[in-house]
Amino acid sequence: MQILKEKQSLKKQIQAYKQAGLSVGFVPTMGALHQGHISLIQKALSLCDKVVVSIFVNPTQFDNPDDLEKYPRNLEEDVQRIKALSDEVIIFSPAANEIYGNNVVSEEFSFDGLEHQMEGRFRKGHFNGVGTIVKKLFEMVQPDKAFFGEKDYQQLQIIKKLVEKHHLEVEIIGCPIDREISGLARSSRNERLTPDQRQSASVIYQILKQVKDDFGTKSASDLTAWVMERFRQEPTLELEYFEIANADTLRPVQEKKEGEKYRAFIAAYSGDIRLIDNIALN
Ligand code: PAJ
Repeated sequence: MQILKEKQSLKKQIQAYKQAGLSVGFVPTMGALHQGHISLIQKALSLCDKVVVSIFVNPTQFDNPDDLEKYPRNLEEDVQRIKALSDEVIIFSPAANEIYGNNVVSEEFSFDGLEHQMEGRFRKGHFNGVGTIVKKLFEMVQPDKAFFGEKDYQQLQIIKKLVEKHHLEVEIIGCPIDREISGLARSSRNERLTPDQRQSASVIYQILKQVKDDFGTKSASDLTAWVMERFRQEPTLELEYFEIANADTLRPVQEKKEGEKYRAFIAAYSGDIRLIDNIALN
């Protein structure tokens, strides 16, 4: 297994793979790896000859400096986890100046409106930062396939749009949400929760499951009122948004129609830790 820090050595290695006719899978991450990330890497290993995992806490996608500073970082543990999986993985773990030079700024993107919904409303500039880093990494890794989790469903849709609009030659593969036993969606930020916070945060998934059961007999606005009330009963959690949206356009919807796909989305705070989750409603 190799750990590379320079884009030049990464490019050289990728060139060698391409010349040997080997397919390259790519799993971009910000590290503090957990089973959710591992499930993506395993999927990539099952479909590709070689897999690149990037570990880079991307400054341009953080709208909150405190969140960036407190974001968990433990490269040594991450390396050990990947080593235990396979030798066919390259870890690309660059410093910020290797990626951005002295110019740590985002490119401006239009994702045909996807960027204005949900996370886009509450995290200004977030998706420009995500688009910027993912486009740069795609140029360096030149993957045949890239793997993204449905945990960040809006991000997944935006990456598909980035690929479509910029005619990038990479297949985007969405992977299911990996959950803790309690139902809480795995996240690097969960490490910062106290045991009590972690236990009560599992309510988010219980609420989403109830919404899934009830959508169809109840309207989105009735369900929104119910979810808000349900969060008021949880002293450790504060709801930021709840939305039922079309699964492709991410536009909010009111009523269920035949033949359309929907998802429900929640963002909530436990103390200063922001958690997101979502569920398919069909
Ligand atoms: P990060 O939060 O580290 O997540 C890396 C990938 O793992 C993303 O595709 C995310 O959706 C997926 N993932 C996280 N938790 C998951 C879970 N519980 N189940 C399944 N997949 C999960 O997302 C990012 O980093 C960044 O925005 C990045 C794309 C790397 C750009 O900087």
